[in-house]
Amino acid sequence: MLGLRTIARAAAELRCDVRSAHERDPAASGVGTVEILTTWPGVQALLAHRISHRLHRHGVPMLPRLVAHVSRVLTGIEIHPAARIGRALFIDHGSGVVIGETAVIGDDVTIYQGVTLGGTGFQTGKRHPTVGNCVTIGSGAKLLGPITVGNNAKIGANSVVINDVPDNTTVVGNPGHPVRVEGRKVEGPDADWIHLPDPIADAMGALGRRVVELEAQVRELGGTPDGTKPDVAPVEAEVHVLRPKQGRSPAGG
Ligand SMILES: CC(C)(COP(=O)(O)OP(=O)(O)OC[C@H]1O[C@@H](n2cnc3c(N)ncnc32)[C@H](O)[C@@H]1OP(=O)(O)O)[C@@H](O)C(=O)NCCC(=O)NCCS
Repeated sequence: MLGLRTIARAAAELRCDVRSAHERDPAASGVGTVEILTTWPGVQALLAHRISHRLHRHGVPMLPRLVAHVSRVLTGIEIHPAARIGRALFIDHGSGVVIGETAVIGDDVTIYQGVTLGGTGFQTGKRHPTVGNCVTIGSGAKLLGPITVGNNAKIGANSVVINDVPDNTTVVGNPGHPVRVEGRKVEGPDADWIHLPDPIADAMGALGRRVVELEAQVRELGGTPDGTKPDVAPVEAEVHVLRPKQGRSPAGG
């Protein structure tokens, strides 16, 4: 009886995984269930995880890690058997996705390739992120530490997120910072993280303008009405030797 119930639940979960692929992957439109089950690595990795997670919960030694390892070899997606994953997770493409041991993922989450839900170092205990429902995590994003990502949040591709993300918030960049909250642009004096000032480019620009001014002045000085040369003393350039004159060169050789 228990066996039948388990099979029915596994079949329902599988149907749900295939439905998520159909709903959230434009490339899956018109693709049959068998094709998705046999060629969609995200769906296969989830199936393997459901098996390894159950074995892990029942205290079976070694086998959960073996299942997770084989799944990683086949799909490029690494999910620790202890990670807790909700309903209808969709992992698109999948290569390079790493989901750590104490990570928790809610329902209807979408994860793209190269995402890491990892720890920040060598801590023990809860050290991986907790992700809410309906969250989208863009390709290459790294979510590090025991942070919480709120429901309906969006994490931009290649972001590095090390702080909690509130509900309904879009976070981008490194370090990850909010750019949209409840669909509205974040306002405030320090809110424009996208268009940051570039002090080196500013300094180069100022130097360029100064050179143009000085060239104009030199031209003016050289073009006096009576044709005489201006009384400008030549400037001696000072050259500093940066490398010690004796001993080995720090560059080697
Ligand atoms: C973040 C994302 C989910 C969009 O969320 P959104 O709430 O609709 O946000 P918007 O598109 O309005 O962008 C908000 C701001 O962040 C910027 N932004 C968006 N994504 C960004 C990213 N990954 N890195 C840096 N800045 C980003 C936008 O330019 C915009 O800037 P602005 O305020 O100056 O206009 C989307 O850009 C993203 O990264 N999706 C991941 C998709 C992916 O990984 N695809 C792989 C397919 S193989």
